[in-house]
Amino acid sequence: IRIFVPVDAAALSVGAEGVAQAIAKEAEARGIAIELIRNGSRGMLWLEPMVEVETSEGRIAYGPVAARDIIGLFEAGFQTGSAHALRLGQAEELDWLKRQQRLTFARVGVTDPLSLADYRAHDGLKGLEKALSLTGAAIVEEVRESGLRGRGGAGFPTGIKWKTVHDARAEQKYIVCNADEGDSGTFADRMLIEGDPFLLIEGMAIAAIAVGATKGYIYLRSEYPHAHKVLQRAILRARNAGLLGLSVLGSGRAFELEVRLGAGAYICGEETSLLESLEGKRAIVRAKPPIPALQGLFGQPTLVNNVLSFAAVPWILTHGAKAYADYGMGRSRGTLPVQLGGNVRRGGLIELAFGIPLREIIEDMGGGTLSGRPIRAVQVGGPLGAYLTEKQLDTPMDYEALAGIKAMLGHGGIVVFDDSVDMAKQARFAFEFCAKESCGKCTPCRIGATRGVELVDRIVAGTERPKNLAVLRDLNKLMTDASLCAMGGLTPMPVMSALNHFFEDFDRPPAPKL
Ligand code: NAI
Ligand code: SF4
Repeated sequence: IRIFVPVDAAALSVGAEGVAQAIAKEAEARGIAIELIRNGSRGMLWLEPMVEVETSEGRIAYGPVAARDIIGLFEAGFQTGSAHALRLGQAEELDWLKRQQRLTFARVGVTDPLSLADYRAHDGLKGLEKALSLTGAAIVEEVRESGLRGRGGAGFPTGIKWKTVHDARAEQKYIVCNADEGDSGTFADRMLIEGDPFLLIEGMAIAAIAVGATKGYIYLRSEYPHAHKVLQRAILRARNAGLLGLSVLGSGRAFELEVRLGAGAYICGEETSLLESLEGKRAIVRAKPPIPALQGLFGQPTLVNNVLSFAAVPWILTHGAKAYADYGMGRSRGTLPVQLGGNVRRGGLIELAFGIPLREIIEDMGGGTLSGRPIRAVQVGGPLGAYLTEKQLDTPMDYEALAGIKAMLGHGGIVVFDDSVDMAKQARFAFEFCAKESCGKCTPCRIGATRGVELVDRIVAGTERPKNLAVLRDLNKLMTDASLCAMGGLTPMPVMSALNHFFEDFDRPPAPKL
C-alpha cells in the first residue's frame, strides 16, 4: 500500500512529520506493509497535513490529519480508502484542484520529488530531450513564441531575454536562477523546489543549452532550509544520472549547477544585487545598463530568471509553444501559479491561465475571509504591490489589466485583508519595509523611505495634515521617478493605493493623547 505524506515545509509546519511517523509506527504494529512516500504539497494548505492513500479508485485524500488521528484512521481502514470523518475523496477530483490548469505544478504533490524514475514516468525530461535535438536559436524561438514572460514579477518577455544572451559573444556565459523569493505572501518558488526539483534543473539545463552557457547557479534564500536540502540532493542525483555534468544526457554538451544560499536581505532578490552577492560582495544594486544579459555575473553574459520562469520551459518544449500560448489573455500567455494568503478561508497555491478575475480566485476558491468579515483590501504583487478595493476585484489576472488600475501582478502573491485593517498603518509599513531593506545606494529610497514613515506618522497624528499630505504625494512621485531600482521605485505603489482608495484612514480625528 502506497501512502503519501507531504514533506513540504508548509505541511511540516503543521505536523506532517509526526503524522508520517505515526503512520509508519501504526502500520508496523498492525503488520500492514506500506510504502511511505514523502511528496510535495498539492497546495491546499488549509487541508495540510493531507495524507493520500493509493487505492484501485485512485488516490484517496484525508485531511487535515493530526498524529492523534492515525489510530482511528487505521481502525476505520483508511489504508483501503474507507470512510472516515477526515476523508476528502479522490484527490484529483477535489474541486479546488480540478478548477486549476496545472502545467508548471502538474507533478507537485503527485510524485516523489527526489525520484528521477518517477519524474521520467510523469513526462519528465521530455523537454530537455527535445531541446537537445534543436539548435540554440530554435529553442529560444520556441520560448519566444510561447509568450512566456518573467514570472519573478517584472513580466519581461523571456524569449527576448534568452535571445539577448544567446546572441552575446563571450567565452563564458552563466545561467542564474533567482530563488530569493522575498515577496511577502509568496511561496510558489519554495513549493516548486520542494515538490519537483528536477523540473527546475531541467528548465535551467534547457536554458543553458539554448544560450550556450555551461555553468549555472541557483541563488536560494537562506530562509528555505527544506528547499535547500531537497535541491542539493536532487542536483546530486541529477549529476549521477548524467543529467548534469560534462555531457548532459550524453549530448556532449556540458552544464554544471550549484546552489548558493542568499544573504538574507530582500534586496538580494533584485537581480544585480543578487549577482553582487553571488560574486561574494555586499548586495548593492548595480546601475543598469549594462543589463545582466550582456554583462552579468563576473562581467559575463548572464541569464537571470525566476524559478517559475525556468520551470515553465520544459512544458513548453514538450508540448510546443502554441499549446502554451493557447492559455491566457492578451499579452499574458500561459498560466500563473497564484499564491493566495492573508485573511482567507482557503489559502494556497492555485495555478490558472491568465484572465480569470481576481474575485473568482479570492471568493470562489479562497472562500472569502477567514474571519468571516467583509473583504476591505487585497494586496496583489508582494509588499511593493498595490492595495485593491473590493470593487476592483473584477479585474482579470493580466499584467496589462492590473497596470491599467495602477497595480501589478508581480510574482503572483495575493494577500487578503478584512475590514479591521488600518490602511494608514499599511502605508506606514510600506515605507518602514523600504527603509529597512533599502540597499542605500540612491537617495530617493535611502532617505525617502525614512521621511515617508515620519510623514505618515504626522498625518495620522493630525499635524499640519493638508501640508503633509501634499508632501507625501510629492515624495511618492520623486521616489517613483528617481529611484535606481524597483525597491524605492515601487514602494509608492502600496502607499498611493492606500491613500487614494482608503483616504478615510488618513483623515480620522487623531487619537487623544493620554
Ligand atoms: P525590470 O523591468 O528592470 O527588468 C526585468 C528583467 O528584464 C530583468 O531581468 C532585466 O535585466 C531584463 N531586461 C530588461 N531589458 C532587457 C533587454 N533589452 N534584453 C534582455 N533583458 C532585458 O525589472 P526588475 O527590477 O528586474 O524587477 C522588478 C520586479 O520584480 C517588480 O515588478 C516586482 O514585481 C518583482 N519583485 C519580485 C520579488 C519576488 O520575490 N519574486 C521581490 C521583489 C520584486
Ligand atoms: Fe538601493 Fe533603494 Fe536605490 Fe534600489 S532604490 S538602489 S534598494 S537605495
